[in-house]
Amino acid sequence: RLDRVNQQPDMKLVVISNRGAPFDPNKPQTGGLAAALEPVVERSGALWMFSSENRGDGTERPLPLVKAGEGYVAKLDLPAAHHRGYYRDFSNSTLWPVLHSLSDRTSRAEEGYDSYRQMNNFIARAAFDLRDRDAFWVHDYHLLPLGGDLHNLGIERPTGFFLHTPWPTPDMIERVPNYRELMKSMLEYDLLGFQTNRDLNNFLACLRTYFGLEGKDGVVTTERGQTRLQKFPIGIDPRPFAEYLAAELSPAEQEKISSLLQNFEGAKFAIGVDRLDYTKGIDKRVEAFNQLLAAEPGSISLLQIAPSSRADVDEYRKYKEEVENAINHVNAEHGKEEWKPIHYTNDPFSQAALARLYRAAHVGVVTPLREGMNLVAKEYVAAQDPKDPGVLVLSKFAGAAEDFNEDEALLIDPNHPEEIATAISKAANMRLEERVMRWRSMMDKTESYTIHDWSADYLRELDKSRITVPANQFH
Ligand code: G6P
Repeated sequence: RLDRVNQQPDMKLVVISNRGAPFDPNKPQTGGLAAALEPVVERSGALWMFSSENRGDGTERPLPLVKAGEGYVAKLDLPAAHHRGYYRDFSNSTLWPVLHSLSDRTSRAEEGYDSYRQMNNFIARAAFDLRDRDAFWVHDYHLLPLGGDLHNLGIERPTGFFLHTPWPTPDMIERVPNYRELMKSMLEYDLLGFQTNRDLNNFLACLRTYFGLEGKDGVVTTERGQTRLQKFPIGIDPRPFAEYLAAELSPAEQEKISSLLQNFEGAKFAIGVDRLDYTKGIDKRVEAFNQLLAAEPGSISLLQIAPSSRADVDEYRKYKEEVENAINHVNAEHGKEEWKPIHYTNDPFSQAALARLYRAAHVGVVTPLREGMNLVAKEYVAAQDPKDPGVLVLSKFAGAAEDFNEDEALLIDPNHPEEIATAISKAANMRLEERVMRWRSMMDKTESYTIHDWSADYLRELDKSRITVPANQFH
């Protein structure tokens, strides 16, 4: 695998995303994108520009660079006045639910669109200082039109985009205001990367439906030039998970973990780790426990870790309440004096602490209604004891289900709690040989295509734009 990593083109890369990583294993991550890109930047020497938590006053200033492993981090203060339109309304109340095909959770943020475009433009202008680096790699739905904005400023380096979320069918994407303009701007990138075949095919279907464009051998040709489209299923770096298990935690976190684990001594428990987001199907999972415990009282409990997320978006506030009510109901209905069915916390945990909790849990439950990949599924696998591994219950609508098949994970339809309940019960009672067989196969896959292989593959592909399309032909 090291050979593959070494084949990564020797480029001075700029990575751009809305959210960044803490670069500290003892601090919690804020989502899949941050967890995925942190090791890539640390190892590759890339410069990662992301928005800071501090909301700025809208003035652009030279970006201060901070070293992060081999790489660099540049935090950009986005103007506070645009948080609402760009982040809350357009990115997270319109685009996010549509990309996950959840029309009931979608509100049409017509006004947010203007802010969204302005912020992409603002970020492009901040990136102008970096125009002499070799290539730009932009991430996720906050920045769909950034490639076009970079080109409009005269930046002529190869620019690639990777979507961490799913991409929906043509009739869904229509719900986004200005979806045609947005999709057209995505064709300004030289390379578009998706998590799964499903997402790639949906995107191609949208191009066909709305622009009459046909992809040929993974390439779409427009007046601007060529855009290549490919799937690159994202992975994790499994090695640190083994190291985390041996690493010391801060006394406070150690104390928290020990007192949580005390609840499950000598008993079976499943674990769910999700941002508190309606795409994650936490409510259906809780209902599955309701049904399971009615049929098999006291058989297994659930540790649900659900750090709060996007709390200023209405749908998230509603969902928090929905989940809490459902959990209270299960605990009241099935709890006994000395035993609580569901332990629930909104506290975030570091990767090192999560590794221990994953390892202790008999079942990992990952039940999103739809999801780009879901790295928790892979992290759960990476943290297991090879001699006595737990079992993964996995939604067939998570991208990870294109990697892990039914001989490995127990695949379920997350819309049907009874199906989840049956799978959890099966997982909790599975014999050791079958558990080992299923786990071994998932672990081999997790180790043979890591986050470093993913980024090397992507960057090699992006590098081809430098070779095949000379910069002066971009316009
Ligand atoms: C998902 C998205 C990321 C996002 C993360 C956390 O993983 O794909 O782009 O950063 O959620 O969400 P937040 O809104 O807190 O950045």
